[in-house]
Amino acid sequence: MISTPDPVLAAFFFSGRLDMTTEYPSIRIYGFYGFFGLTMDVQPETMFKALADSTRWRTLGVLQRHELSVSELVDVLDQPQSTVSRHLRVLREAGLIRDRRMGSTRMYSVPTSVDGQNESNLRSRLMAWSGEQTLPNALHHRIDVVMERRRDMSRRFFDRVGTEWDTLREESFGGRFHLEALVALLPRDWTVADIGTGTGYLLPTLAGHFRNVLAVEPSERMLETARNRLTYERLDNVSLHSGDLTHLPLDNLSADVAIAMLVLHHVPAPRAALGELYRILKPGGSVLLVEQAVHDHEAFHHRMQDRWWGFDAEELVLWLGEEGFADVAAHRLSSVEQGDDAPALFVVTGRKAVDTFAGVGG
Ligand SMILES: C[S@@+](CC[C@H](N)C(=O)[O-])C[C@H]1O[C@@H](n2cnc3c(N)ncnc32)[C@H](O)[C@@H]1O
Repeated sequence: MISTPDPVLAAFFFSGRLDMTTEYPSIRIYGFYGFFGLTMDVQPETMFKALADSTRWRTLGVLQRHELSVSELVDVLDQPQSTVSRHLRVLREAGLIRDRRMGSTRMYSVPTSVDGQNESNLRSRLMAWSGEQTLPNALHHRIDVVMERRRDMSRRFFDRVGTEWDTLREESFGGRFHLEALVALLPRDWTVADIGTGTGYLLPTLAGHFRNVLAVEPSERMLETARNRLTYERLDNVSLHSGDLTHLPLDNLSADVAIAMLVLHHVPAPRAALGELYRILKPGGSVLLVEQAVHDHEAFHHRMQDRWWGFDAEELVLWLGEEGFADVAAHRLSSVEQGDDAPALFVVTGRKAVDTFAGVGG
């Protein structure tokens, strides 16, 4: 069945641990092929033959640890390119490795996701066997050299780019994607209320992660803009509500998070309005306020038609505490790119205690 069996593999095979030919007349390989909606039927003997050569099972062992190009494999295996390519072809036809194009280079690795059905058992067991084999020290050393060469290329690039990286980063990806990434730390099944949503600036980030978003806004024009944004961005988990922070059109205990970003300094009676945020939060829910620090920037204040000239962060902390919020804390937002006459901003967070329903009215 195996014409020139590798002694280790042959022992393994003939020991009965891998008596697969009756159990598995043909093996259906998923994983990489399945990824593209294809499957590939591989006879067991094709797999065994592929591994009946020490260079090939070592190659498989190497590719289980690292994804490599042909030229890297040439260095690692210390074999001519034509030999390496021939072995890769055999392993590939046996469904034991996959390749993918990266620019002008073809990279080789082992398929990562395998359908857990019977058919893939032989393949997984051969993989497990190959992964357990000890590779020669010289081969490990040559892998280290290839990895160090990759590290060095990357280091030299960033040494050259230096401080221009920030510009390159923003030109390539914009300046906001990290926000969305950080939001991924939070549970997806939350309902989040964005009070004073304005044009719905926050909504794509919120709706992209949380199950439900409730957006409240008193200005009809802003609401219309927010509605257009929802249509344009195809966000179907946001409900828009016409309303005011002083009397929120939301049910008691309906939100896990209540956000009021750059809103409070427009509210006629901000201290009194905080009770509404408390009311709509579920026990354990969080409030998040972003506000202007106290300032005396006249032009800005009049241009923005603000009611209040910012807030003292400590005072806001106190107000939220008096409202019943626990763990209230404020800190300055140091990453704000303050326009010429714009005030500094700070954030305040707090949590509605789990064991109290105090302050829940209506
Ligand atoms: C400076 S904008 C901020 C919009 C949005 N939160 C943002 O971060 O881009 C302030 C928004 O608060 C809204 N607003 C003003 N008074 C409000 C109130 N009493 N209750 C709720 N929202 C209010 C305004 O209509 C406006 O859309």
